[in-house]
Amino acid sequence: MLRNQRHPVAVVIRGGRIVDQTGTRQADVLIMDGRITSVTTKVSSVPAGTVVLDAAGCIVAPGLVDLHTHLREPGREEAETIDSGSRAAALGGYTAVVAMPNTEPAIDSAAVVRQVFHLGADSCCDVHPAGAITLGREGRRLAPMAEMAALGVRVFTDDGAGVQDARLMRRALEYASALGVTLAQHCEDASLAGGGHMHEGEWSSRLGIPGQPAEAEELMVMRDLALARLTGSRLHFLHLSTAGSLAMVRGAKSSGLGVTAEVAPHHFTLTDAECASYNPVFKVNPPLRTEEDVEAVKAALAEGTVDAIATDHAPHTQESKEVPFDQALPGMLGLETALALALTELDLPIEQILALMSWQPARIAGLEDTHGGPVASGRTANLCVIDPAETWIVDPASSASRSRNNPYSGRKLTGRVRHTILRGKPVVVNGEPQR
Ligand code: DOR
Repeated sequence: MLRNQRHPVAVVIRGGRIVDQTGTRQADVLIMDGRITSVTTKVSSVPAGTVVLDAAGCIVAPGLVDLHTHLREPGREEAETIDSGSRAAALGGYTAVVAMPNTEPAIDSAAVVRQVFHLGADSCCDVHPAGAITLGREGRRLAPMAEMAALGVRVFTDDGAGVQDARLMRRALEYASALGVTLAQHCEDASLAGGGHMHEGEWSSRLGIPGQPAEAEELMVMRDLALARLTGSRLHFLHLSTAGSLAMVRGAKSSGLGVTAEVAPHHFTLTDAECASYNPVFKVNPPLRTEEDVEAVKAALAEGTVDAIATDHAPHTQESKEVPFDQALPGMLGLETALALALTELDLPIEQILALMSWQPARIAGLEDTHGGPVASGRTANLCVIDPAETWIVDPASSASRSRNNPYSGRKLTGRVRHTILRGKPVVVNGEPQR
């Protein structure tokens, strides 16, 4: 992968509390030439020109890793570019994102993979394209997964749609296993979900908006668990949203099946009642569910059924959102609010939240060599510094994203990223992007 960023001579992160998968300790971190060179109680002498980042009262953690980001480039640059999206990611504490392939054209060939790597080479976070499972994400013929894997693609998905054909999904799982890559499924049975614009339930009946039942997600989870068992392949479930899906994953894991699962912040912070405003900012796929589902998502996070919190950052232009609910495109922004929502809304220790947002997703994406910690001498310096006490109000107008479809406008959150360091270079300092 290309990378042509210059590093400052040295960076020291001073006065913070390190939290990584090895535990917690008070220490300064010295970074030189992109790598951590020492982690010690107090770095006293530093070379001239060293950049000092204040971390007093803060947590110093491995950079966050997002398994589910829509960057829209190539093809829908009016909604987001790799540059704007990666700046939003860095502001949210991310040092790596997996970019979904529902671009135009889809990331379904070596040429588009190369293009995305190239566009991301000089951005504020590492951008790892996910490849499509099927050509054009049309669900008919397999994409050239081997060609894309040879370029470093580790995750394949048709996200935005699920692979409907069970035989094709079986083949894809077999290829993925041979290639040592992971398939990530958007679980949605199109025949059952078709025509639905929100969760099917009490609210959809009251509002007169056609819904999609929980079963549209759950049927595909059920089928894919069977296919994972049949093929023995690694499978990751994207943005699970129902109590039933999570119960099935819990059962499968306890029987020893090697599947992983993520949930998105909007599925533990918002319910389908929000759709009563008819505001398309609350339209998303899978849809916002019931309070019982939100509680099930929180319980699954707490007990470890869920491996990762992933944003499903889905930027859309004002034009595609300022239309009647049933005509709006689904999706909401997520990169800049995910960590603060987790810190504010989940009753979990910071270590567990960071596991869900940094080292566990790093492992699922195959990025554990360079991302997700530990914060130790010799490791690439991909880090974030979090002030757990800072309170702030979400203001969509101040987002680094090109889009404004943020459902949390005006919400007070606690916990904010102060600095983000990518390969030794501070890309966010005191909450400000450096480019
Ligand atoms: O709400 C969604 N938006 N869900 C998806 O699966 C796709 C995404 C998008 O690309 O906008």
